[in-house]
Amino acid sequence: MSVDALDRYEKTLAGLMRKGRRRMLAPTGGIDFTSNDYLALADSPRLKAAMTAAIERGVPVGAGGSRLLRGNHAEHEALEAEAAAFFRAERVLFFGSGYAANAALFSVLPQRGDLIVHDALIHASAHEGIAASKADALAARHNDVDAFADAIGRWRHAGGRGHPWIAVESLYSMDGDRAPLTALAALADRHDGFLVIDEAHATGVHGAGGRGLSTALEGRENIVTLHTCGKALGVSGALLGASRVLCDYIVNRARGFIYSTAPSPLTAAAVREALKIVADEPDRRADLDGLSRFANEALATTLGMEGSGSQILPVMIGDNARALRIAARMQAEGFDLRAIRPPTVPEGTARLRIAITLNVGRTAIAGMLDRLKAVMAEERP
Ligand SMILES: Cc1ncc(COP(=O)(O)O)c(C=O)c1O
Repeated sequence: MSVDALDRYEKTLAGLMRKGRRRMLAPTGGIDFTSNDYLALADSPRLKAAMTAAIERGVPVGAGGSRLLRGNHAEHEALEAEAAAFFRAERVLFFGSGYAANAALFSVLPQRGDLIVHDALIHASAHEGIAASKADALAARHNDVDAFADAIGRWRHAGGRGHPWIAVESLYSMDGDRAPLTALAALADRHDGFLVIDEAHATGVHGAGGRGLSTALEGRENIVTLHTCGKALGVSGALLGASRVLCDYIVNRARGFIYSTAPSPLTAAAVREALKIVADEPDRRADLDGLSRFANEALATTLGMEGSGSQILPVMIGDNARALRIAARMQAEGFDLRAIRPPTVPEGTARLRIAITLNVGRTAIAGMLDRLKAVMAEERP
């Protein structure tokens, strides 16, 4: 192989390094201010016991094939039935990840002639599906209902005849703020359209019974919800809730569902237990809520910054290199705080993303913010 063939990649990586955008895998350590394990279920004895019990009752490790072939296990079906009852959806489909579910649903549900109008800050996995879709696509300013309405209006004016698909996150992964779901659902209704709600960071944490922020819209035909299982639920995978016909359509058309080995049946067993924990242990949700309130108030008093109000607290830095330096110093002091840089977030909005989970207590939060204040003052822009 010529030197050239690999040089191209080295050059790109060197360029990323210069811009403070090179990503690297690092060992995990320090107090957790980064994970999405909001309810501290990832290492919970109940989930471990559920896995062990599943092994003991003969649930296999591997599915052995696609859901459409021999990989459709009773454990997947039991999970989907229980999740449909839990989330009050007509039907639920289990995917191996939220990424795969978003890629699948956006690639096949919006049809040629439809419009996908998505929030400017929507997750990369939705972009993956939107890029593969035959529908038109437009971005709308973050959380601005008028911008969504304008985009639909412009598209109609230009001859758009199909159905609009409004795509949002109920609680934004990097900003921690909430989408105006009621107004967006009304907009979808007005235009005979659909609303796709990615509940990744709300599932298990927010809304009645931990069912997410879309509970008021449950069961409606034009609502599609995505509940990921690797965040508050502590496992992995995703549960897509929609009408029976849309789920059937995905099973028949989504290549990522059809041509992929089904998730491990053991994972399905663990997610079944995670949903039971969310139902049986409301104190976890209440404790996280108390901790999030404490963190939001402490952020205001210590750093003079307004919090998002949720368990995700961005501390805006702006400059990539400064964000990296601050994060590195905090990590060296034992606080696992990460810098989030473009392209994950818009250019010029590099930030530290503080995630509050039940893996930490108030003393750790207060201690981390005190040190962050000092480090930010020392690492001047
Ligand atoms: C809003 C949102 N949607 C989807 C995903 C993807 O979910 P998963 O991690 O299960 O692939 C994530 C995870 O980062 C996310 O934050």
